[in-house]
Amino acid sequence: MVDLPHRVREAIRRDFPVLPVPSVPEIRLHRAGPKSGLWRLAEWDAAFSTPYWAHLWGGGIALARYVLDHPDSVAGKRVLDLGTGSGLVAIAARKAGASAVLASDNDRYALAAALLNAEINGEDIATIEGDLMSGPAPAVDIVLIGDLFYEQDLADRVSIFMDRCLADNIEIFVGDPGRAFLPRQRLQMLEEYAGTDFGIDGATNSSCNSVFAFRRDL
Ligand SMILES: C[S@@+](CC[C@H](N)C(=O)[O-])C[C@H]1O[C@@H](n2cnc3c(N)ncnc32)[C@H](O)[C@@H]1O
Repeated sequence: MVDLPHRVREAIRRDFPVLPVPSVPEIRLHRAGPKSGLWRLAEWDAAFSTPYWAHLWGGGIALARYVLDHPDSVAGKRVLDLGTGSGLVAIAARKAGASAVLASDNDRYALAAALLNAEINGEDIATIEGDLMSGPAPAVDIVLIGDLFYEQDLADRVSIFMDRCLADNIEIFVGDPGRAFLPRQRLQMLEEYAGTDFGIDGATNSSCNSVFAFRRDL
């Protein structure tokens, strides 16, 4: 019987080079390269889906930069990184002094990568697999959301979840490169970073990544 999680972790360690994150050089991540053999992971597991975790996202980069530059935003707080992907934002939050960081994703490979990435950066994070958005507000002080407004249905669900969190007095920060379904009318701009949105194919779609606070009303 093949221990798939072990096999995948070994593949990430071996075939996904560790590279510093542009604009966030404090953090290094396993990233997909030409020799990573993503196809092999897809062959091992029919449920393998688009490997967002193996790529950089403008929203995550901005949010990671923000918490590192403004450690007071997370220091001593319990943090949830919703849709963690590579774990970049979760790792940044822990580095900035968060008392505990929970990284969630509905892709189990993302969580495997996030744990490996946390390890190589000397940080400890907890993970939870699944979609937390249908459930109650989590037991945290702050929710960080990097680049989750790229699809209408997902964006709508994130917005409902954010409202549930606000009702429980949980702070919410969003990092985004200006995707189509960003709920701009509810967001207060905190910081703008010049830079690119990398995305799945390395294409650059924007020249600016922003960090916002989600507010009841503005
Ligand atoms: C564009 S990536 C952003 C990753 C990371 N937040 C960042 O900024 O680097 C979106 C991530 O959200 C995850 N995701 C999408 N829908 C989700 C859901 N319903 N519940 C949990 N995670 C989800 C994907 O698996 C993926 O890892």
